[in-house]
Amino acid sequence: METKTRENWSSKAGFILAAAGSAIGLGNIWKFPYSVGTNGGGAYVAVYLLFLVLIGTPLMLAAITLGRKTQLSVFGAYKSIDRRWSFVGFLAVICGFVILAFYSSVGGWILYYFKNAVMGNLNTKDPQVLASIFSNMMNSPATLIVYQLIFMALTMLIVINGIKKGIEVTSKVMMPGLFILLIIIAIRSVTLEGSMEGIKFLLVPDFSKITLEVAKNAMAQVFFSLSIGMGVMITYGSYLDKEVNLLSTAVSIPALDTLAALVAGFATIPAVFALGFEVGEGPGLMFITLPAVFASMPLGQIFCIAFFLMVTFAALTSSMSMLEISVSYFVDELQKDRKKSTLAVGIVIFLMGIPASLSLVQGSSFYIGSLSFFDIYDKLSSNILLTTGAFLLSIFVAWILTTKEAVKEIELSGIRFKLAPVWSFLVKYVVPVGVFIILFNSYKDFIIALLN
Ligand code: PHE
Repeated sequence: METKTRENWSSKAGFILAAAGSAIGLGNIWKFPYSVGTNGGGAYVAVYLLFLVLIGTPLMLAAITLGRKTQLSVFGAYKSIDRRWSFVGFLAVICGFVILAFYSSVGGWILYYFKNAVMGNLNTKDPQVLASIFSNMMNSPATLIVYQLIFMALTMLIVINGIKKGIEVTSKVMMPGLFILLIIIAIRSVTLEGSMEGIKFLLVPDFSKITLEVAKNAMAQVFFSLSIGMGVMITYGSYLDKEVNLLSTAVSIPALDTLAALVAGFATIPAVFALGFEVGEGPGLMFITLPAVFASMPLGQIFCIAFFLMVTFAALTSSMSMLEISVSYFVDELQKDRKKSTLAVGIVIFLMGIPASLSLVQGSSFYIGSLSFFDIYDKLSSNILLTTGAFLLSIFVAWILTTKEAVKEIELSGIRFKLAPVWSFLVKYVVPVGVFIILFNSYKDFIIALLN
């Protein structure tokens, strides 16, 4: 593939939209709000923001720079600089399989809720009714698997159509729409009677709640949410041409991503308190809370339909980037046919995803130790694989490519990188050491959970 002329993004805006499309997804809208709820509120938000600035954003710059310098996707990028690092590409492929296996399950929930929104079934504020809609879905293996299949099929369809058409066009329309909608929902949520407690829960950190567990989850969430650690941003960066200002790019993606997560937090958490839901609910939080917010809005059903439609697109722009990484390995490295590779990889991921969905059904035996398959995929991908990938990325850019070379690449567009010494220091020392401490504990806890 590298002998052919590579497609470039038609514009920098196209790249930002696509990269933001990968970053902004269920991680922001579904996972961030419920993780805030289960990890102690404002303390988690504070740790998240700290890791975002010190670790996530510097790594975003590292990833995009590595991609643009080599003009290669993740496998080629590492390999072209040092052959011994090709294994990072494999790690990325495996990570793509594992993440999408459970992401597609949640994508299926979104589709199911979209259907129910259209049918008007979500039009109630009653917490009990909403909880039972969610648990009925969770306890119907057929529903879970059929919708997961539809979600996977949509993802495969987009990836088969190639990078530009699929990714760019979809992102351009849906992302701005989602932002506007989230802001409207957030405004409704914070103006509900009794929302103040929720706003405080989000914004006021109780520092005694910061534990190793919270730090571990916050870091995994930074990588998950920014799509960092499995080569998505390296690959997307490889399509950028040399005139593009990498600095502003690497800052705007995390900024947009975090904005989306925070707005989703404001859309969900204050309403949880105002309408009588349980903040520590876990993965069902958004699904039971937001319909109640819509039910308290004029034209609620229309907002509800539009919301689940746009979240579907946000999820798809993320899922296609995961699938793209695994598929491009077969296409670029093994010279396989794109269509066949997408079908084969997609089907394997779907099959892997079935136990993840089934493990959610009450009384399921799809457990290893104390972890359900859903949790295994979730933890394995974010806490272990993405975090390992992020660690390796920092070591690679800092010490193998060297920050000096990276800074040269960054300055190619004619800008002066004034914060280069700060960035170099972060990528050389702060990031690897910080990530390693967390990573070590994540491995330990993951193994213990599997054995228990
Ligand atoms: N960032 C995506 C989200 O927040 C998930 C993702 C992770 C996508 C890793 C690609 C790679 O939903």
